[in-house]
Amino acid sequence: MRETRAKLLVLATMLMAMAAVLGYAFLQQRAARALATATDPDLWAALFPRQHASFSQTRIDTGRTAYGGSTPYDKLEANPFRRRAWAGHPFELEYRASRGHYWAQIDQRESRRTKERDQPAACIHCHAAEAPALVAEFGWDGFHRHRYDDLRDRLAHGSSCADCHAPGGMELRVNRTAFVRAMERAGRGEELAQAGPAAMRSFVCAQCHAEYYFSAPLQELVFPWDEGLRLEDIERYYDERGFHDWIHAETGAPLVKIQHPEFEMHSTGLHASLGVSCADCHMPREAGEGGLVTDHWIRSPLTNAKASCLGCHQGGEQALIERSVAVQRRTVTLLAEAEEALADLMDAIVAAKEGGVGTEGLEASRRAHRAAQMRWDFVDAENSTGFHSPREAARLLEDAAEIAREGATAAREATGGDR
Ligand code: HEC
Ligand code: HEC
Ligand code: HEC
Ligand code: HEC
Ligand code: HEC
Repeated sequence: MRETRAKLLVLATMLMAMAAVLGYAFLQQRAARALATATDPDLWAALFPRQHASFSQTRIDTGRTAYGGSTPYDKLEANPFRRRAWAGHPFELEYRASRGHYWAQIDQRESRRTKERDQPAACIHCHAAEAPALVAEFGWDGFHRHRYDDLRDRLAHGSSCADCHAPGGMELRVNRTAFVRAMERAGRGEELAQAGPAAMRSFVCAQCHAEYYFSAPLQELVFPWDEGLRLEDIERYYDERGFHDWIHAETGAPLVKIQHPEFEMHSTGLHASLGVSCADCHMPREAGEGGLVTDHWIRSPLTNAKASCLGCHQGGEQALIERSVAVQRRTVTLLAEAEEALADLMDAIVAAKEGGVGTEGLEASRRAHRAAQMRWDFVDAENSTGFHSPREAARLLEDAAEIAREGATAAREATGGDR
């Protein structure tokens, strides 16, 4: 009798254990299925509490570093030359310093650039976790037939886990069409398809931290990478297509607004050539309970240099920060020199116009405005202030100043010649 009871007890315990295991597997499966379409990062918290906790910190203001950080200060106020450079473009309305991924949708929705200007749906691509679902619903072309305001109410979350992870195994993956198509057109489709974890640690970021434009007639989002990632390759791409974003309000030059080319700039740098990825510096692995965890509080590495840099670099944290800020300070000096030359070029073109010089006489100096400003903007819009590729940044800014000076001379000669 006692023996039977003991056997029953063992059986019941076994059944309960089995039920628990099966139940857990069932719950996990159900969770993974639910996550396949989940755009709210909070829904991932139960399965990945540590990554979710650091991801949520992207809402925190780190304060400002020498040239970066996540305080969304007014970049037009900080450097009034920018407003002049973008005269006639929505950027003259408002341009703030970027902050953490938590804000990606909120800041776009609240910007004067979307509130006061009619913008295309293409803006959504990098600013909403809902973007891939909208593309799936309408198709790529159908998505682009919408305006930003038509879809505004469908957007809720800026960045989310599925932007970089496949639900289930949580492998790194990309899910943004413009990036995938750009890689294919650049002849790098196979490289992307075969990419191992190390390469993916930069590709996930390149989905959004890249130069783009809206291609007519659909205002389709395109990354101009067909000819390569250097500024000169991108310039050739735009020139061949006769593309311009807008006509400069003062000089009448057909200009291109460059946007956050972090991936392009990083690709030309020493760190990239050594195989260092975006995530190595912006998402260091840190020891926590139960092993190494990737820090998802993506931010300025200079606010976290010990974890971000000292895994590879010797010497103290402070010394390395100073070395990096010195690189940035040099970039800022060269930016200012390019700005001075560009402002002088604009003055010269305006004077030539007022002096009666016509379209033909202004052609060389307007071409110079386009080429010089593209180079300056490539460094100014890139968010590391030269750190990602110091020598490339310096080269572009020296070229910008040189081209602007030649353009100013051409404008003054045209003015003199017409008199
Ligand atoms: C070797 C380390 C390193 C690598 C690799 C790296 N970055 Fe950075 N990144 C930095 C540093 C340092 C800064 C400057 C931060 C500052 O000024 O406070 C920075 C700045 C930035 C900023 C602006 C941050 C701010 O506070 O305003 C963005 C955005 C960014 N990087 C994105 C990327 C992307 C995307 C990649 C890959 C394509 C990348 N980074 C690769 C170190 C790195
Ligand atoms: C290819 C991806 C991509 C597209 C498309 C895109 N953005 Fe962004 N946007 C970013 C990234 C990356 C940042 C952060 C880096 C920075 O601020 O330069 C950003 C920052 C911003 C910010 C905050 C900083 C600022 O500029 O004031 C606003 C607002 C914004 N974008 C609006 C827009 C609008 C409006 C459009 C459409 C015209 C658009 N974005 C299209 C990637 C994109
Ligand atoms: C911008 C891209 C990006 C986003 C968004 C993102 N992750 Fe990650 N995640 C990474 C990278 C990069 C790694 C490191 C992967 C590697 O190299 O093995 C990582 C690693 C992980 C890992 C593996 C364990 C570890 O800590 O290394 C988990 C689990 C994870 N992330 C969960 C999440 C969750 C949950 C979210 C949303 C709350 C999220 N991630 C959002 C890029 C991202
Ligand atoms: C889906 C698009 C998207 C992806 C993918 C993405 N970012 Fe961003 N990132 C943004 C946008 C948009 C902002 C600007 C948010 C704002 O200012 O409101 C931003 C901001 C940042 C900032 C600025 C934070 C600050 O404090 O100023 C850094 C650094 C950054 N991203 C690095 C990365 C890195 C590294 C990766 C890859 C691991 C990555 N991002 C992947 C869209 C993206
Ligand atoms: C995965 C390894 C790795 C990480 C992470 C890394 N670096 Fe480096 N870095 C290198 C190597 C290797 C070199 C080349 C040798 C050298 O100059 O020390 C280098 C070079 C540099 C240089 C000289 C650049 C030049 O163009 O001459 C600076 C400055 C620098 N790193 C700063 C940083 C900072 C700041 C961080 C953190 C945000 C960082 N590094 C993160 C590996 C790394």
